[in-house]
Amino acid sequence: MASTRILKVKTYEEMSVLAASMIGAQVLLKPDCVLGLATGSSPIGTYQTLVENYRKGILDFSRVRTVNLDEYCGLTGDNPNSYRYFMNDNLFDHVNIDKANTHVPNGAAEDLEAEAVRYEQFIESIGGADLQLLGIGHNGHIGFNEPDDCFPPKVHTVALTESTINANARLFERREDVPTQAITMGIGTIMKANKILLIAGADKKDIVEKALFGPVTPQVPASVLQLHRDVTVILCEN
Ligand code: GLP
Repeated sequence: MASTRILKVKTYEEMSVLAASMIGAQVLLKPDCVLGLATGSSPIGTYQTLVENYRKGILDFSRVRTVNLDEYCGLTGDNPNSYRYFMNDNLFDHVNIDKANTHVPNGAAEDLEAEAVRYEQFIESIGGADLQLLGIGHNGHIGFNEPDDCFPPKVHTVALTESTINANARLFERREDVPTQAITMGIGTIMKANKILLIAGADKKDIVEKALFGPVTPQVPASVLQLHRDVTVILCEN
């Protein structure tokens, strides 16, 4: 049966601590778990808290495996705007994870179709994510699954919408540097995770409400989460 817990918190710090607690609990429960990870501003505090907990000796990432949701097309991992770089910089470089166990789709692959097939098969081969962390875009996108006529089942490449390009432009030196394409887990890939943890700041309040209580429609990709059996949403009110 579908079940969604909505935890409302007052601050970004509270959201980060709660999200990191849940991820930490998953690692304790299954030290060789597969964590599905996300990028963006929302999870930065969560990753900082995980790093702090690792430094305190509370967390051990030595057997953890990770799969990231998405990556920009055309950017290599040494590009500071790539999601691989983001993950190294915000988490992997600061904990005892084996980098060989961290996976991000290769947005610089020559054959992106083949890369999409490879990444989907790889995720399946390791049993999918035990816990998938998600942020949400202002248009309800999860990963880079933009509003569409259908829910994409598998890893695929996607053309980013103007609204997503504009939202992400803040992280680039020039707007024209923002890639217009990305490779992302599909909605089907995301939905196969055992547990889902969605974190959202106060600016996402309206879209979270629409996603959780409105109709299930690919025009609001996150609305599909209403059908997942185990979703926790941490919504920051300020
Ligand atoms: C990007 C990522 C998403 C993320 C979204 C929201 O588009 N591909 O995975 O959820 O941004 O990011 P933020 O948390 O910065 O608002």
